[in-house]
Amino acid sequence: MTQPTQDFILETRNLTKAFKGFTAVDDVNLNIQRGHIHALIGPNGAGKTTVFNLLTKFLQPTTGSILFNGDDITSMKPAAIARKGVIRSFQISAVFPHLTVIENVRIALQRKEGNSFHFWRSEKILNRLNDRAQELLEQVGLGKFSDTITVDLPYGRKRALEIATTLAVEPELMLLDEPTQGMGHEDVSLVTDLIKKVSKDRTILMVEHNLHVVSELADRITVLQRGAILTEGTYDQVSANPQVREAYMGTAADEVEAENAKQAAAQEKDTEVVA
Ligand SMILES: Nc1ncnc2c1ncn2[C@@H]1O[C@H](COP(=O)(O)OP(=O)(O)O)[C@@H](O)[C@H]1O
Ligand SMILES: [Mg+2]
Repeated sequence: MTQPTQDFILETRNLTKAFKGFTAVDDVNLNIQRGHIHALIGPNGAGKTTVFNLLTKFLQPTTGSILFNGDDITSMKPAAIARKGVIRSFQISAVFPHLTVIENVRIALQRKEGNSFHFWRSEKILNRLNDRAQELLEQVGLGKFSDTITVDLPYGRKRALEIATTLAVEPELMLLDEPTQGMGHEDVSLVTDLIKKVSKDRTILMVEHNLHVVSELADRITVLQRGAILTEGTYDQVSANPQVREAYMGTAADEVEAENAKQAAAQEKDTEVVA
């Protein structure tokens, strides 16, 4: 096995994807540091989802390569990538709406162990599986919801369950494509806290539109524009970059401020209700 030469869990070298002559991802060199939460941001159509599809091998790059722990995984199949520990949330975790919450986590655990017939014959192992499923549910704040039918969970809690089923396969690198999309502020802060919590022993690469979330979570940010990397750095560095402000954050930075104000107002309101 090749030893990683640096502390980068994932690298892309000159990664490029063209669709019928249109270059959606253009010569992208990503370096994702182990243990980081790394955010990929940029305006609609910048190529973020295409990058994710390349990393999980749903798409084959036109040119360029992908290295995971120093190994070239460019020509591997999606299932092999997943087995290596690169898991996209909501990819592997087909959450079954009419099963209970804990049943869904058990299925994810079972998937990880493989469907060995012998595995299922031992009651002891089944109990251990239940314990592990419950543990994962506690981890994502769903401890009390284990017997709830999944379809009855509120939206933010469903995302938490999807994260639990992703955690079940113990990914080394977790890919999250817009985890807070379409959420109200309460669910956004629930999922933000959750991502912070589960990031402890792993690396997370996330696409996120909500810059307030990015500012809270990301150790490092890559800004994509028209398929190419515009700049990289910490939130402060990136948000101070005039090109970024012009291209993307001019309005978005204001949105962060608006979001902060909104959250403050919401908190005040909650306090009123309590009082
Ligand atoms: N399968 C495809 N065929 C043709 N064009 C595509 C395909 N997938 C994405 N694109 C184009 O590539 C560009 C980047 O898309 P995408 O990666 O979805 O951007 P983002 O996620 O940053 O909004 C867009 O212009 C989109 O229309
Ligand atoms: Mg997208």
